[in-house]
Amino acid sequence: MSRPPMRRPPALTPWPLRDLLGRAVAELDARGAIFDLPVGKWHRPVDGVDLADTVGGHAVGTPLGPAAGPHTQLAQNLVLSWLAGARTLELKTVQVLDELEIPRPCIDMAAEGYNVEWSQELRLDESLREYAKAALMIAVLRAWEPVRAGTGEPGGHVFELSCGYDLAGVRSAPMAAFLDSIGDARAAVDAQRGGIPPALAGLRDVEVPARLCTGATLSTFHGCPPDEIEAIVRHLMTRHGLDVTVKLNPTLLGRDAVAAILHDRLGYHDTALVPAAFAEDLAMDRALELVDGLAAFARAQGRRFGVKLTNTLVVANERGRLPGAQAYLSGAPLHVLAATLLAELDARLPGRLALAGRPGGEVPVSFSAGVERGNAAEVVALGLSPVTVCSDLLKPGGYGRLSGMLRRLADEMRAAGCADLPAWRARADAAAQVAGHASAAAAYAAHLSSPEGAAPYAAGAVRKPLKRTGRPLALFDCTSCHLCVTVCPNDAMIRLARPDGLEDRLTRRWQYLCLADLCNDCGNCTTFCPDDGAPHRVKPRLHVAGREAAAADSDYRVARAGGVWTADGARRNDLVAALLRDLPLPAEDPEPEEAP
Ligand SMILES: Cc1cc2nc3c(=O)[nH]c(=O)nc-3n(C[C@H](O)[C@H](O)[C@H](O)COP(=O)(O)O)c2cc1C
Ligand code: SF4
Ligand code: SF4
Repeated sequence: MSRPPMRRPPALTPWPLRDLLGRAVAELDARGAIFDLPVGKWHRPVDGVDLADTVGGHAVGTPLGPAAGPHTQLAQNLVLSWLAGARTLELKTVQVLDELEIPRPCIDMAAEGYNVEWSQELRLDESLREYAKAALMIAVLRAWEPVRAGTGEPGGHVFELSCGYDLAGVRSAPMAAFLDSIGDARAAVDAQRGGIPPALAGLRDVEVPARLCTGATLSTFHGCPPDEIEAIVRHLMTRHGLDVTVKLNPTLLGRDAVAAILHDRLGYHDTALVPAAFAEDLAMDRALELVDGLAAFARAQGRRFGVKLTNTLVVANERGRLPGAQAYLSGAPLHVLAATLLAELDARLPGRLALAGRPGGEVPVSFSAGVERGNAAEVVALGLSPVTVCSDLLKPGGYGRLSGMLRRLADEMRAAGCADLPAWRARADAAAQVAGHASAAAAYAAHLSSPEGAAPYAAGAVRKPLKRTGRPLALFDCTSCHLCVTVCPNDAMIRLARPDGLEDRLTRRWQYLCLADLCNDCGNCTTFCPDDGAPHRVKPRLHVAGREAAAADSDYRVARAGGVWTADGARRNDLVAALLRDLPLPAEDPEPEEAP
């Protein structure tokens, strides 16, 4: 069959709410999962241990969440985070330049993390729609009994805005309109309500807070001039009524200290620093002044001001896996850098940071740097809140790794006889005092500077070879390891069961396909696929959302008609169509009324 010509589509075509919720309902019923996260990987409160925390004056069910990044851009990503136990969700950074061309691939998580992403890939109006859609979806799912049976009482959650990068951009008309709509999102949320599918019709009027975010984190990255940081914070507080957190960069430690940790202590000798990044970024003395001045300004305005440690470290991109001259380092080595910076800031701002054992500390500190199962409980004990994660969620297991971190935190608290987070933090503070440290943060930094404490973060421990089969990856039948599904932040890879009777044409029970609308070519599935090839390019690429599809051999335009899915591609349409019978997405024709 000849096909009409197809053009290369935009990187992301978000799915409408009807399809996302329709998929959630069908998938929970058929597979005991939502967006490929099985109920067993959802977070469920543990009896006798209360993980509740307070973020920006809001009660939240746990202290963890995803950091601004690939897990917080599309609506289904935010839902996945929430199911896994995230209760502070830091939205992907928005800025006025909303038609950026991101180089691909943009993520390399083979060991320590590297990326070349910037801010949102969606236009500002699309980002608003995704955030409103996510807020509504979470409100619906948390009120829906079958989900409630898996999550138990989830406690509160908050969305934290993330924005950048200069004053003119933040004050521009498009950004002002975006921020106003975040401040009163009723229209954006109500525009989505018609997309709540019939199975959930009783929840169409579920309550969603009018204000999507009460706090914003300012990303001081990509050359955000230090003298503008202060002005942006003031603007966000006064014009938009937001509490503001400034996300600091590890360059604040200075080049010599960073080199001593990264190269000498941890052994990442081939990760070269970029001197200009240190010269351009905020320096320590100016940062201390800035914290002082902005904390006072916030107090006068009746707002909160906090800091976040840290953004990624700009390094030379010499590993040959990502395009461009520079890349941004995250993961294990960043953990040691950020913990060292925390101890230094705490020492240089005595009593000012709201950490464990600092009842008078007025400046809350949130954290994102190499947090994973082995250290999340320790980091939470320092009084950091929220504790956010990016790189670790891009490793096999994906979002489900968050619930593992929460389980370990609860287990450790229970073993120590701590019923809640204040007790857990007081215990860490008391232990630090007994050991002669000025604070729990100082004790933790000292631990990471010891050979034993540094060992798990060193290049030798982190850079383990990934499994490779040497077999070429093909359209159908692969090692069927499922890794591409779990490592995809957008849940753009899906597995479908081979229908009975096709055993002679498909050897494997599970076949893997790409939901191409949701794939932005980040490359993470390719890193982890043990077969030789790129899953998101080689496997059948399903274009469900109705936009024109690219004309590669693996592209399929799929459509629903009369309760069945059809597939139209260059080859083996019958096999793809047969597999689509297992697609956990209703095949009824959508009604036209819905906003996209
Ligand atoms: C792929 C990727 C994209 C990111 N995008 C953003 C972003 O848009 N805005 C931002 O402030 N930080 C961004 N970050 C930085 C993270 O929010 C986080 O601060 C950093 O990765 C350190 O945490 P981690 O070690 O857990 O990854 C990104 C990180 C990665 C890996
Ligand atoms: S399918 Fe692969 S390349 Fe596409 S978004 Fe997911 S991980 Fe990235
Ligand atoms: S495409 Fe690769 S990563 Fe995905 S299941 Fe097959 S072998 Fe595993």
